[in-house]
Amino acid sequence: MANTLGIIKPDGVRRKLVGTILSKIENSGLILRGMKVLHLSKDDAEKFYAVHEGKSFYKSLVEFMSSGPIVVLAIGGHGSIERWRDLMGATDPAKAKYNTIRREYGTSIEKNVVHGSDSPETAKTEISFFFREDEILPKE
Ligand code: CDP
Ligand code: MG
Repeated sequence: MANTLGIIKPDGVRRKLVGTILSKIENSGLILRGMKVLHLSKDDAEKFYAVHEGKSFYKSLVEFMSSGPIVVLAIGGHGSIERWRDLMGATDPAKAKYNTIRREYGTSIEKNVVHGSDSPETAKTEISFFFREDEILPKE
């Protein structure tokens, strides 16, 4: 029953997709346990994506992720990590399944609208990157 971290990236906020994406989360039965709107500094974007440091897309990704406001979400519910990644779709919108967020709204492999943790370990570290424990609703 671990929580996962979701992010609505700057392209999603800019294009007013926040409501649409929150609806998809609610309608899927996942549980919203924490939410913030913020604008990442370049430094924080670098830290958040440190695992990708040195890759060809890293610099551009950091610029993009600090280019405007984002919404960070603590998402709970049974199997939340997998289920949120299923809702998002594959990294490359062109390869993502129909009816996924990235397929519907992504415009490039970089500007793919949403982020989701990929394992229980990363979920834990990524949630604590943005939320204190008392900023997340307890599991019922
Ligand atoms: O986000 P996801 O876990 O699906 O993919 P990732 O491999 O962890 O990459 C993190 C993010 O970097 C992606 O969501 C894209 O925004 C970006 N990326 C990119 O711009 N070009 C790539 N070839 C791969 C990833
Ligand atoms: Mg990833």
